[in-house]
Order: sequence, then C-alpha cells, then structure tokens
Amino acid sequence: MNQEHLAEAKSLLTAFPGKSSALIPILHLVEDEFGYIPQEEVDAVAGLMGVTAAYVEAVLSFYTLFHRQPTGKYLIQVCRGLSCHLRGADRLARFLYEELGVQRGGTTDDGLFTVEEVECLALCKDAPVVQVNLEYRPRATQEELGRLIAESRQEVARHA
Ligand code: FES
Repeated sequence: MNQEHLAEAKSLLTAFPGKSSALIPILHLVEDEFGYIPQEEVDAVAGLMGVTAAYVEAVLSFYTLFHRQPTGKYLIQVCRGLSCHLRGADRLARFLYEELGVQRGGTTDDGLFTVEEVECLALCKDAPVVQVNLEYRPRATQEELGRLIAESRQEVARHA
C-alpha cells in the first residue's frame, strides 16, 4: 500500500470498534490502488491487522467485488441473478465470451477486457443488468455491448 492508503488503513483500524470490522474497507483501499489484491498485500494487511493471511484469504474468497488477479482495463460484469437470468443475461454473457474470445472470468490477451458473472446487482427491475467498471448498464442488449466493445477499442487505439 502507498503511504496515503497505509495512513488511511491505520485510521480505519482505530475508527472501527472491532479490528476485523476494518478489514473490508482496508481491502477496498488495496483494490483501489492495485486494481486487484496481490498476495504481498494479503500478507501486509494480515500483519497490519494482527490476523492470519488465511483469515484475509477466507474473507476475500467470500466477496466477489475483490479480485485476486489483475483485471482488464474494462471490467464487464454480467448479473446472473434470477431476474437477469430470466431476461437473457446468459445470452449476453455467451455473446461477450465469443466476441472477446475469453472464458468466464477471463481477460483478453491485450488486457483490455475482463468478463465476469456476478450475483444480483440490485437493479432487478431493469434486468438484464451489466456493469462496466462499476457503471450500470440497465436493460443491456447484445447490440449495446457490441458497440461498447468497439468504442472502447477505438478509444484505447486513439490514446496509444
Ligand atoms: S437479478 Fe440482476 S440485478 Fe438483480
């Protein structure tokens, strides 16, 4: 963690009544800084909190918001909750896998896109819901996702 995040983590440890309550917000600091949770940071956070690395790993394995591997520049998350499933989310996911040549949870070779399936994104009335870099795409369609991929590629090429 950088110095700023480390100072924030230490202040979180004193702000929460129980040390373990600070674990999730501290892990968010790490994810914000690195884009994922590297193993060295698991060990560092465990040391900071006085818990075992296995404890931190167990918490990480429970929360799908955290990533253990670097993700693509565009993190595409397809909701697999019931409402979205009933309204075609699985077709959207298949489209993305085929279009990008990745499997579930995979990242394209150019490091641009990662596709994940996640639990209910809490916007069920607008199913199927896709989230791109934490921005909701309600009532997502295959056409819209295709455009998004093309535009994202163009955007990256423009700044290359
Ligand atoms: S089931 Fe997809 S947002 Fe709830």
